[in-house]
Amino acid sequence: MTTTASVELTLRDISAGAAAGSSCSTRLLDAPWDVDREDPGYGPGASMADAIPAVAPRQGEIPAEYREASDEELDRRIRAAKAELGDRVVVLGHFYQRDEVVQYADYVGDSFQLATAAKARTEAEAIIFCGVHFMAETADLLSTPEQAVILPNLAAGCSMADMADIDQVEECWEQLMEVLEGEGQEEGLAPVIPVTYMNSSAAIKGFVGRHGGIVCTSSNASTVLAWAFERGRRVLFLPDQHLGRNTAKAMGIGLDEMTMWNPRRPLGGNEEQTVRDARVLLWHGFCSVHKRFTVAQIDKARAEHPDVRVIVHPECPMEVVDAADEAGSTDVIRRAIEGATEPTTFAIGTEINLVQRLAAQHPQHEIFCLDPVVCPCSTMYRIHPGYLAWTLEALLRGEVVNQVSVSPDVAEPARVALERMLAAKPAPLAGSAR
Ligand code: 13P
Ligand code: SF4
Repeated sequence: MTTTASVELTLRDISAGAAAGSSCSTRLLDAPWDVDREDPGYGPGASMADAIPAVAPRQGEIPAEYREASDEELDRRIRAAKAELGDRVVVLGHFYQRDEVVQYADYVGDSFQLATAAKARTEAEAIIFCGVHFMAETADLLSTPEQAVILPNLAAGCSMADMADIDQVEECWEQLMEVLEGEGQEEGLAPVIPVTYMNSSAAIKGFVGRHGGIVCTSSNASTVLAWAFERGRRVLFLPDQHLGRNTAKAMGIGLDEMTMWNPRRPLGGNEEQTVRDARVLLWHGFCSVHKRFTVAQIDKARAEHPDVRVIVHPECPMEVVDAADEAGSTDVIRRAIEGATEPTTFAIGTEINLVQRLAAQHPQHEIFCLDPVVCPCSTMYRIHPGYLAWTLEALLRGEVVNQVSVSPDVAEPARVALERMLAAKPAPLAGSAR
């Protein structure tokens, strides 16, 4: 097996040169282990041009029996291993996973829902997280110390999360404190509260926890920003500039009250006065999947389908969110479609695997991706049934492979930042059981 039925046809079009304008690599048709053998990189897909940190985890080669197995053999082995392990294992699948992986998930959901699902399944000795590295870390933070969280392919990172490196963030904080130290004391406010999107490393979550800050997801970002403004004069928003800008703007904060922080430039590329005047400092991070969506695509969808309902993820650029009818997390998008009682045309701005699954699940609606030339998330795509079979069969032998575990010094403050988020807003319901 090399690729998936869910996006296979479009990928074959790209490969055959039939999908004009695609910047995706035809290497998407290769098996992930062929990519894992190469120099470090995010692999083919939307993030392939992003710079990967030198310390990003690498995936060692898995045994040939998994690389060479047919689809049918992998299917049989995965099902048999799951049946034998029973409640000892829970398999979680993010909405952006390929259908060939999602079919084995006990829960499918967004990153936060899956972390809470991990927390709820205390009887499972092992949690196999079919998603990306920061999600597995979060599951480790929220699960019990006895549970092992496994990421089937360690090379499944997230290029956006990697755009905020802990050393750069510490350096940024030092520079900010030199300019802002002591500010806000008379009002009982901190000069700046750090807020990090769930899509960040555990080290960044720990940093935020140590400095009076909080974690947010794409579904609770405005509640979390309101929490932060009750405690501080301004917010440092990590690592996604778009989610930060879109959320702050929707809360009535002007663009002139926001500034970008470029970690490669002194004071983030700002004058001291700009930092003092800012209410939101936006880290220079972005998602290479969501930055592909454009206003021109929305205009085209509206011209071709006058009644179209356009829903985009808030990781999209501001102009795209402004031009859409609605913006929301992966689960908000799913619920909007499920809640539509009349046949509707939806144009969706998020990762293709989710869009194609929603289209298949709701044939009464016309559902298409705003970007007609598919380019899946490179790192989500690195999870493959071959890796899943390998991790499950290792558990059968009593071995835990590819465990993701957060060191206690980082875990403690990171949990504080996560608990603040849970207290700021009740946790959403656990992911949809399949
Ligand atoms: P969710 O938190 O909505 O699952 O999004 C995760 C993600 O990576 C979006 O790009
Ligand atoms: Fe990261 Fe973007 Fe992929 Fe989500 S879609 S995991 S933010 S690279």
